[in-house]
Amino acid sequence: MRLMLLGPPGVGKGTQAKLLAEVYGVPHISTGDLLRQEVREGTELGRRAKEYMDRGALVPDDLILAMFESRLDREDTRPGFIADGFPRTIPQAEAFDQMLARRGLKLDAVVTVEAPVEELVRRSAGRRVCRHCGASFNVHYQPPKVEGVCDVCGGPLDRRDDDREETVRRRQEVYRAETAPLIAHYEKQGLVRRVDGSQPVEAVLAAIKRAIAR
Ligand code: AP5
Repeated sequence: MRLMLLGPPGVGKGTQAKLLAEVYGVPHISTGDLLRQEVREGTELGRRAKEYMDRGALVPDDLILAMFESRLDREDTRPGFIADGFPRTIPQAEAFDQMLARRGLKLDAVVTVEAPVEELVRRSAGRRVCRHCGASFNVHYQPPKVEGVCDVCGGPLDRRDDDREETVRRRQEVYRAETAPLIAHYEKQGLVRRVDGSQPVEAVLAAIKRAIAR
C-alpha cells in the first residue's frame, strides 16, 4: 500500500497515518517528524529547518527532497508507506512523481482530509507532545490521565513551538497557497479520495479505509 495523506495542519494526518500504518503493515513517513528529529539532534539540517518551522513557513524543497528520498530508500518501505506531510509544493509533487517512476512504483491513492479552520486551530492549540517518547495528546479530545504527564512513559508534555495560535493561522494560509493546489495535480492522475476529517478519530479512519477500497 502506497498512500499519501494530504490536508491542512491539525486535521489529523499524523493521527490517521499512525493507525493506517498498523492496518496495512507499512511505515509512516512524516517529513514533519523527520525534521523535528533533526532539530532535536542538533544537525545542520535541523538548525536550518527550525528557522522556517518556527514561523510557520515551508522548509526549502531541496532540503526536504533529499531527506525524503533517503527515507524512501530504506528497506522497510518495500511493502509500501503512508506519506504524511509530503509532498507539500508542486515542485515536491513533481519530484516525487519522478522518484516513484525511477523505482517503478505507483501511489495507490491520495487521501485528502478536510475540516473547518476553527476546528483545526482548536486541535493544534490543544495538542501536547511527550518530550521523551513523542506520544501525542490533546487537552480537548484525548487528555493525558495526569495533566502535563505522558501516559506512555511518564515524560513531560510540551506544546509544539509552531502550535502558537498566530503560527497555526500562518500555517493554514501557507497550506491554502502552497499545498492545496496539489489536489488538482493528483486529480489529473485519478488518485484523489476525499474524506471528512471533522468526525471523531475512529470514524475518520473508517472513512479512509472505505475510500481506499473504492
Ligand atoms: P508537520 O509536522 O507535517 O505539521 P502539519 O502538516 O502542519 O500537520 P500537524 O502535525 O500540525 O497536524 P496533523 O494533520 O498531522 O494532525 P495531528 O494528527 O497531529 O509539519 C511541521 C512543519 O515542518 C511545517 O510547518 C513545515 O515548516 C515543515 N515541513 C514538514 N513537511 C514539509 C514539507 N514536505 N515541505 C516543507 N516543509 C515541511 O492532530 C492534531 C491534533 O488534533 C492532535 O492533538 C490530535 O490528537 C488531534 N486530533 C486528530 N484527529 C482528531 C479528530 N478526528 N478529532 C479530534 N481531535 C483530533
